[in-house]
This record gives sequence, C-alpha cells and structure tokens, in this order.
Amino acid sequence: MEFTKEQFFIVTGASSGLGEATALELIKQGASVVAIARREDKLKELKSKCANPDNLYIEVKDLSQDIDSLPDYVKTLREKYGKFRGMAYCAGINFIGSIRSINYQDTLDLFNIDYFAPLFMAKGILDRRNNIGKGFSLVCISSSDGINPVKGQSIYTGAKSALILTMKSISKEVSSYGARVNCVSPSMIKTPMTVGENCVLEDDNKEKYPFGWGEAQDVSNMICYLLSDKAKYISGQNYIIDSGGEV
Ligand SMILES: NC(=O)c1ccc[n+]([C@@H]2O[C@H](COP(=O)([O-])OP(=O)(O)OC[C@H]3O[C@@H](n4cnc5c(N)ncnc54)[C@H](OP(=O)(O)O)[C@@H]3O)[C@@H](O)[C@H]2O)c1
Repeated sequence: MEFTKEQFFIVTGASSGLGEATALELIKQGASVVAIARREDKLKELKSKCANPDNLYIEVKDLSQDIDSLPDYVKTLREKYGKFRGMAYCAGINFIGSIRSINYQDTLDLFNIDYFAPLFMAKGILDRRNNIGKGFSLVCISSSDGINPVKGQSIYTGAKSALILTMKSISKEVSSYGARVNCVSPSMIKTPMTVGENCVLEDDNKEKYPFGWGEAQDVSNMICYLLSDKAKYISGQNYIIDSGGEV
C-alpha cells in the first residue's frame, strides 16, 4: 500500500472519467478521498465501486460557481477532514468550435472550470493551514492540446496551456515549504468526455496515436505516482500522456 487511510486527498471531477479512475486508484492504494463533483448519484455509484467504500467521502459542489470563495471552501473541507496530503484537480469540460462560433459566455464558462477553479482550489489547498506541508502534492489535469493545439480548440487550448504555466509558476512559490505541484496532459483517453452519448468530441482517428486511445488508468496511474512520495523530487513539470504523439 502506498498510502494510509489517515492520508486525505481531494479529487475533483470524481464522478466520471479520469477523476473517477484517480479516486478509485488512491483508495485501492490505501488513501482516503474526498470526492467532489455536481452529480451526487454518480458519486454514490463511485462508492459502490471502491475497494474500501469507507475511505470515500462525497462532497457535491459546482466548482464553477462563486470561484472567489473556493479557498474558503477548501478551508471548510480541512475543518471537516483534517489537513490534506494532496489534491488531484480532474474536473473539466471541453468546447469544440471555430473562432467564428465562439462567444464570450462560452469562453468564460470553460475558463471558469478549466482554469479559474483549479487556480482558486490551488490557492485554498496550498494555504499551509490546509495541507500537511512537506510532502504535499497537487496534480492538475491539463491536456496535450495545451502544448500541441489543433483547430477548433482555441478556447480549450487557451485554458489548458495557461494552466500548465500557472502551475509551474506556483510550484516555485510553494517549494519553500516542501510542497510539489505538477500537471499531466493526456491526448485521447476513453472517458465519457470522448466516447458515448454525452461525448462532445467527433470520433477522432485512433490511428493518429501509436497505441490508439488511452484508458483512464493510463492517466490515473501517473497522477497517483505524482501524488506519492515516489515522486518526491518532481515538481513544476507537465507530463504529456499520448503514447508518443500523433504519427
Ligand atoms: N478524456 C480525454 O481524452 C482527455 C484528454 C485531455 C485532457 N482531459 C481533461 O481531463 C479532465 C477530465 O476529463 P474526463 O475525460 O475525465 O471528462 P469527464 O468524464 O467528462 O469528467 C469530467 C468531470 O468534471 C466534473 N465537472 C465538470 N464541470 C464541473 C463543475 N462545474 N463543478 C464540478 N465538477 C465538474 C464532472 O462532474 P459532474 O458533471 O458530476 O459535475 C466530471 O466528474 C478534463 O479537464 C479534461 O479536459 C481529458
């Protein structure tokens, strides 16, 4: 076991896809997880999938509302659960559209959950009163689009690339007390965002990637590694998870 049940992690976006896989893996490895998302039914389903359901704590929250108050929200979570050992920020949405089709509201909606919410959740959890100090680890999911943009993804690419460099800058602030901050940037991973009825993406050519599309566990394994002490010398990085990139 990599973690103990006394070690609490926040996982946002835990009701689906990469967040769900991360929460399940952390619990499998012995940790306790505070799982955040809007859909309570999905979070309850997650409990039934856990290796140890008693280690999963559900918090229903729309992280795109009242973003200025997110640091106080983290404080209330710390008062409830104790100081956090880490956070995986996995919540997010995508937006596909040409420059002609975009408007300010759609742009703001995407930036709220893909950029401003991780920034202000980070502000909350990196407050030394809310984390364990040395050994604390924050991982945010960006995207390979944040490094290698494709057409029709201008807004998403903007938020994801900003997130990578913002987190890199923040990593240099908090290294003074031994906290680590990293990003992971997947390409095409099979989740409800990319496959199924609620999918927002066109069927992407799977042959573009050397190993086809990835599984959620390909990303959650990396996140859990970065959250663990095995990665104690790694901070300020962004790991692209794309099986080597488009061929
Ligand atoms: N899948 C991929 O190929 C891929 C590739 C690169 C990057 N990513 C990034 O990875 C992250 C996770 O993606 P995914 O594939 O796991 O997508 P997903 O299956 O659609 O999951 C998205 C998660 O975000 C949560 N969420 C969305 N809006 C929220 C809000 N306002 N407040 C709280 N939670 C919210 C959703 O929960 P509720 O709906 O219950 O609130 C859900 O748990 C995203 O940032 C995405 O951009 C994914």
